[in-house]
Amino acid sequence: MDITNMNKEILLTKDEINMKVIEMGKLITEDYKGKKIVVISLLKGSFIFTADLIRNIDLPLVIEFMITSSYGHGHESSGEVKVIKDVDIDISEYDVLIVDDIIDSGNTMKNIYELLSSRNPKSLKTCTLLDKPSRRTVEFTADYTGFVIPDKFIVGYGLNYGDYYRNVDHIFAFVE
Ligand code: IMP
Ligand code: MG
Repeated sequence: MDITNMNKEILLTKDEINMKVIEMGKLITEDYKGKKIVVISLLKGSFIFTADLIRNIDLPLVIEFMITSSYGHGHESSGEVKVIKDVDIDISEYDVLIVDDIIDSGNTMKNIYELLSSRNPKSLKTCTLLDKPSRRTVEFTADYTGFVIPDKFIVGYGLNYGDYYRNVDHIFAFVE
């Protein structure tokens, strides 16, 4: 994708994202009462979403990070998911919530779900801000989904193109 001559189309405003994240946090707060939560944030894409989400979860929790290989500087998924940085704790004591920015092909969530599942957590659920179901190559549905979006390459609010645009406070698509 060459973005030099492309236009920007705003998909989700800062306010729309904020309202959704508050709603998701409330739902998770209700569902996880009395549980021992670890939120596992998949870097780098989900760092902003995770930071906002956990401040809307009104329960004690711990946070862990994983780095997985995904898109380099292009936008096609390779299918295999490599763990570059793993969590630092034994998750068998915890109710685990995996948080990612977007589910696209489904490879990242499916692979990480299966990996963490094999470590016998008390429970295991997934949460994504964005979902592009039209792009799935493997079947996967998150337990908590913010927005279902069309098949457009988007950036902002943690999502990148060539590692840029993560700091943009809204989400936009590059269009012809
Ligand atoms: P997967 O294809 O479901 O494995 O998604 C892998 C990762 O690709 C996601 O966690 C995102 O970080 C990234 N990704 C997928 N779609 C987009 C997009 O439209 N913009 C930016 N990053 C994306
Ligand atoms: Mg990602």
